[in-house]
Amino acid sequence: MNAPLKVTVTGAAGQIAYSLLFRIAKGDVFGPKQPIILQMLEITPAMGALEGVAMELQDCALPLLHGMVLTDDANTGFDGANWAFLVGAFPRKAGMDRSDLIGKNAGIFSVQGKAINSRAASDIRVLVVGNPANTNALITMSNAPDVPRERFTAMTRLDHNRSVSMLAGKAGANVADVRQLTVWGNHSNTMVPDLTYCYIGRQKALNAVGKRWYSKEFVPTIAGRGAAVIKARGASSAASAANAAIDHVHDWAQGTRKNDWVSMSVPSDGSYGAPEGVIFSFPCTCPGDGTYQIVQGLELGEDIKAGIKATGDELLAERAVVAELL
Ligand code: NAD
Ligand code: LMR
Repeated sequence: MNAPLKVTVTGAAGQIAYSLLFRIAKGDVFGPKQPIILQMLEITPAMGALEGVAMELQDCALPLLHGMVLTDDANTGFDGANWAFLVGAFPRKAGMDRSDLIGKNAGIFSVQGKAINSRAASDIRVLVVGNPANTNALITMSNAPDVPRERFTAMTRLDHNRSVSMLAGKAGANVADVRQLTVWGNHSNTMVPDLTYCYIGRQKALNAVGKRWYSKEFVPTIAGRGAAVIKARGASSAASAANAAIDHVHDWAQGTRKNDWVSMSVPSDGSYGAPEGVIFSFPCTCPGDGTYQIVQGLELGEDIKAGIKATGDELLAERAVVAELL
């Protein structure tokens, strides 16, 4: 057995965490030989509910769960953390855009960035889930200047998984047959689901589903899926969001599939015309050692380039709104 990893989950009494914590503790992220200590951060009024979650974790008798910390203090929550899932934030309600949450949620991430900077382990890696995820990740990163920038990521894996599933459904294929799909940009309505290099088995995805279906059905459905779930469920996606967070960190820590890539929001290096200084979703591969590379050398059509420009402009506008926190 390895030494335990310290894994921080914020918003630990919330909906997503209720699907996330048990799977982390079961080994779905770091594997069946990796013990973990869960450091669960909440706000003070939710500490009672968090006690209940901890009781349930105990009652699962999970061999990999070597300890739990329950706290409403960010410094304690991130103390010695090797990995952090930043979930704690307010979700949007029907009729809102994710960017409408900036005013309510941005402050959370400046406090947590500072705590990460001063208290986390030197190998800390962070996934931001709380919306608007890309801009919240930028705030977190900016408030942790001593941590290498590439350790901060935001979640567009749910958009990626939604895209894989919808595409496989249309083509009558299994999701495992879909490869090299990309979601570019912001986790917002401007995200750019892209099938240019995507294959279903050996067939080019665009040939299988047609350009009309791609632009008229696929892109708007994926961009609006979060809102559709809120309308149907009366609450934002939770189990699928937790599953995407697990996939994101699993692949980052343990590696992506051969001949495939995943969509990860990472600090932009300006590739493909994306603006620098924002957290932008790119196609990424991970070798399995806690690093990732942005896939390089893809030739893109004018429509995708225009989409990258629009979603990049939106991220710049969000950045301007939170300028005083950066
Ligand atoms: P929720 O309201 O059920 O849970 C959020 C929890 O965060 C609550 O328990 C709350 O007490 C806690 N919290 C608030 N401020 C905190 C702080 N400063 N420190 C620690 N905890 C804090 O919400 P949820 O359904 O779990 O969603 C959480 C966030 O994830 C929302 O912002 C939602 O929009 C976002 N989300 C993102 C994606 C994505 O794909 N990136 C997908 C789904 C949801
Ligand atoms: C999602 O995509 O389901 C989440 O970001 C929640 C939301 O507000 O849409």
